[in-house]
Amino acid sequence: MAEHAHTPPPHTPKVHTSKVHTSLAHDSAPLHVSGTALYADDVAEPAGMLHLAFGRAPHAHAKIVSLDLSAVRAAPGVVAVFTAADIPGDNNVAPVARDDRLLAADEVVFMGQPVFLVAATSAKAARVAAKLGRIDYEALPALLTIAEAKAAHSLIEASQVMRRGDMAELAAAPHRIQGALEIGGQDHFYLEGQISVATPMEQGGVHLLCSTQHPSEVQHLVAHLLGVTSADVTVEVRRMGGGFGGKETQASLFAAAAALVAAKTGRPAKYRADRDEDMKITGKRHDFTANYDVAFDNEGRIRALRLELASRCGCSTDLSPAINDRAMFHADNCYFLENVEIVSHRYRTHTVSNTAFRGFGGPQGMLAIERVMDAIALHLGRDPLSVRQTNFYGPERNLTPYQMAVTDFVADRLVEELKTAADYDVRKAEIDAFNASHPYLRRGIACTPVKFGISFTTSHLNQAGALVHAYVDGSIALNHGGTEMGQGLNTKVAQIVADVFGLGLERIRITSTRTDKVPNTSATAASSGTDLNGWAAWNAATTIRERLAELMAARNDVAADSVVFEGGVVRAGDEVLGFAEVCRLAHLNRISLSATGFYATPKIHYDRKTHTGRPFLYFAYGAAVSEVLIDTFTGEHKVLRADILHDVGRSINPALDLGQIEGAYLQGQGWLTFEELVYDAKGRLLTHAPSTYKIPCASDRPAVMNIHLWRAGDNREPTIHRSKAVGEPPFMLANSVFSALTCAVAAATGDPRPTLDAPATPERILRAVKGSSL
Ligand code: MTE
Ligand code: MOS
Repeated sequence: MAEHAHTPPPHTPKVHTSKVHTSLAHDSAPLHVSGTALYADDVAEPAGMLHLAFGRAPHAHAKIVSLDLSAVRAAPGVVAVFTAADIPGDNNVAPVARDDRLLAADEVVFMGQPVFLVAATSAKAARVAAKLGRIDYEALPALLTIAEAKAAHSLIEASQVMRRGDMAELAAAPHRIQGALEIGGQDHFYLEGQISVATPMEQGGVHLLCSTQHPSEVQHLVAHLLGVTSADVTVEVRRMGGGFGGKETQASLFAAAAALVAAKTGRPAKYRADRDEDMKITGKRHDFTANYDVAFDNEGRIRALRLELASRCGCSTDLSPAINDRAMFHADNCYFLENVEIVSHRYRTHTVSNTAFRGFGGPQGMLAIERVMDAIALHLGRDPLSVRQTNFYGPERNLTPYQMAVTDFVADRLVEELKTAADYDVRKAEIDAFNASHPYLRRGIACTPVKFGISFTTSHLNQAGALVHAYVDGSIALNHGGTEMGQGLNTKVAQIVADVFGLGLERIRITSTRTDKVPNTSATAASSGTDLNGWAAWNAATTIRERLAELMAARNDVAADSVVFEGGVVRAGDEVLGFAEVCRLAHLNRISLSATGFYATPKIHYDRKTHTGRPFLYFAYGAAVSEVLIDTFTGEHKVLRADILHDVGRSINPALDLGQIEGAYLQGQGWLTFEELVYDAKGRLLTHAPSTYKIPCASDRPAVMNIHLWRAGDNREPTIHRSKAVGEPPFMLANSVFSALTCAVAAATGDPRPTLDAPATPERILRAVKGSSL
């Protein structure tokens, strides 16, 4: 690979118009409110469109003995029915391990797994017909829970260990406690469900309009499945109505189904899952159990920690290795662990294959160490925040369990500022007094910090490309490999490009992500969308600008780097021309107005065998103070107030960043308090619709919510405009809600051993308050 690919761009952009570091509306906002934003299901359907539905298995684990689909084929409106035998290429929709089937061939490995595919003239006809399959199964024993998989030693890969220091310290320190925490999963509940529309093109090609975070992966999988080349398949994404990690790998199932039908029938085909099906057959956040054994001194400073994490990966590998690695990477959070052993078990079960979800395992690892902090504080009768601060990374104490030095630590300063701004000490004293006097209500307050590593931990994924065209009228078409899912990536990248040319944002046309424009992209994930695509687009735009600068410099006999692009005009010596005029001049002089750009994150490396290296370019930091109120009669709670200080470096767009922080906190609050996935004894998901699965609503937002970007925020690494990633880190600010609830429960029981598990539903809070008597 060319040398320049691994070198960061030579200088931070010099030209700052008002286009970066500025709050500008999300480019889709006016389209959303006027109902004109096009999602995959809004695009006008061509004549002959087929609609699809899966026939699904009623067992969590079974052998398929015989298959009779004659009644399905005979049903009204049915045009074609396909099974695994009809797949021309590879029956696989898995991202890495090739262990996810589009259609089960002989074995079913989770309840509701697709077995056959119906194409009909309407969605209703397809769904009705899909129920008519006559399939004989031989039911097999199913492992459904972490405990069952553990007993059966059912793993998706070998357990991993991260270790440093001397574990003999566990027995030597003045205090030692053990405990366990259960952490629930979470459904993504994107507003727009999974959907793909496939259109057959000439010579065996297929075009896919797909709601995916990973167009390139969909393209490659579909090509293998159809037995064609990647160049025969084009995947296009204008926007998603949310992905949250749920469309990082799992959109492939629906894309593959639509592509198969389009290839087989020669007609356009659409798979739009309804909400119930989407919730039943797509993977979710991993549920975890965490067991800790921790030794500490009288101040609560940890001397040694042994942490054992176990997760339910489901029926296949998906991204579980990397997700569980990220849980290990974040089990330190902001705390220096001198003597530490982190063990991680990844269990295979006969449930849907769990997948990426905002934070990617990080939240589960971090919640575990926050529980350890609360347990230490309760044991010593100390303020939990002071215990946290005692354990913070510091100059002499900066090595993570994976041997990366934390050199950009700011959580100590940030927490100190937030503590003052949120009036923590005064409120804590008030809350203690309230708890001592109220007959049945209890309040709790907690401040938890966040340190989140930025970069894909699989190093080669940290690359991106962009394609920028300038037209002779001075308008710019911008394309890059990232996908828009509501987070505002396209707006930020457009700001970066507008800034390069000194143009207003209205001159930049944001176009769909397409695999035929920018190839071999990574998923838009790991919060790195702007870090990667922002630089790639900057590089592309800068290439064009430099060509224009040279042209103008030569005309005016000045140095190229003295040419200024600002306010829609280009200045060279005494000459001032409109940007459009300069583009036209370039065209007349036969100078290319189109360029690609590329970027690869520097410095990172990681050795997974020893679990050591520098997996992250930098860390994003934040902290939150949450205050809660619980009712010890009903177990209900309210989050009364949240104060948040978050570090986004130098924000490219403060309005979008604040939106990400607020949304992430609420989504985290939902994970830890309301959202509960309940399976029955056969492995059937009972909570597969909003009637039974409660996500946060507007009234669950804390009545008082103060969110601030950290004024001192910066990035020592040369990220684009010195910004920091914001997509996932603030999700974990909601850990403060769980800690506050833990404290409120402790205030109710007087028991120094925390017993609350997540999600803290009314039932669990009540059980924690009343003990085993309930
Ligand atoms: N924000 C919105 N509105 N919708 C989403 O689906 N996904 C989150 C986060 N913020 C998401 C979101 C997740 S899981 C990630 S990894 C990042 O956005 C991805 O985008 P970015 O890398 O551009 O921040
Ligand atoms: Mo986000 S979980 O990395 O898509």
